[in-house]
Amino acid sequence: MADICILGIESSCDETSAAVWLGGRIKSNIVASQKVHEDYGGVVPELASRAHEQHIIPVIDEALRKAGTRLEDLSAVGFTQSPGLIGSLLVGSCFAKAISLSRGIPLIAVNHMQAHVLANFIEPPFPEFPFLCLTVSGGHTQIVLCRDHLDQEVIGQTRDDAAGEAFDKVAKMLGLTYPGGPQLDRLAQKGDPHRFSFPEPRMPGLDFSFSGLKTSILYFIRENQKQDPGFLQNNLEDLCASVQDRICTILMHKLRDAALQYGIARVSISGGVSANSALRNSLQEYSSKYGWEIFVPKLEYCTDNGAMIAITAYYKYLSGQFTGLDAPVSARGIFA
Ligand code: KG4
Ligand code: ZN
Repeated sequence: MADICILGIESSCDETSAAVWLGGRIKSNIVASQKVHEDYGGVVPELASRAHEQHIIPVIDEALRKAGTRLEDLSAVGFTQSPGLIGSLLVGSCFAKAISLSRGIPLIAVNHMQAHVLANFIEPPFPEFPFLCLTVSGGHTQIVLCRDHLDQEVIGQTRDDAAGEAFDKVAKMLGLTYPGGPQLDRLAQKGDPHRFSFPEPRMPGLDFSFSGLKTSILYFIRENQKQDPGFLQNNLEDLCASVQDRICTILMHKLRDAALQYGIARVSISGGVSANSALRNSLQEYSSKYGWEIFVPKLEYCTDNGAMIAITAYYKYLSGQFTGLDAPVSARGIFA
């Protein structure tokens, strides 16, 4: 097992990434982020595909070089099959297929969301099974019950916007540039999270909703700006802190409900939004209050990365879950 060598390729959105898994660990994880979207306030699919085409060869070359491997050494190649932007997914999948065909090695299709959960197994400490993972990114918000590496069930998810999308859209309303989530987090650290109160949606079960919150913040800002044109400017830090506090309590309340409902006290957070400082603090607080054992992958493995694709491909390799060269890509999740 130790010499299994897997190349993982991620290209679902606006990060081109490749990583090499060798000797039971990640040897390289190269990520090229696309700056081109900043001017547009969001990811432009066609520009993303073009940028992936420009980045993919240097990114894969660098991942192999840094790991001290060559294409000839690979046991298999994994790629993100879904969910994501079709044009972006096609770039990574075509490359993976070309490598599989030319080297005669197995091709492994990976679900991006499943990979976010398995990022927990890149570096110790590893959670024991079963555990719950709150996967929060720009495109998704899910609570996943993880019974084994490849046995995952989505038990709650957003019915409209993702948590990261809510952060980014509100940040845009506050005049911050894309992606606003990290900037909002920074400003919030100097603000009062209890200064303004925004509603918590009443969603049944373990599902989330963020669109109502977004609208109420929009109206709240508009109304206050009408009365005082300096409102936004003068209250920016408190607004950021209050919005962040509400998004985090929505996430944490559902995670707590899931933990109680399933009787599980091992809890992880993953995905880009798990970088949020308030969410990390809340996780610590809930851990003390409810006796949770908590796990958070290293930041570089929380945001989109090839390493999580490589490790997921590794577990699929061990269980012989290969795919054909005719494997499609899909905008919606194929949770194999
Ligand atoms: O997982 P990810 O890198 O890409 C997707 O699969 O979407 O997540 C990106 C999302 C963006 O919405 C970004 O604003 C958000 O994660 N994000 C944050 C923070 N860092 C990244 N949101 C709030 N606070 C942060 N510190
Ligand atoms: Zn992601």
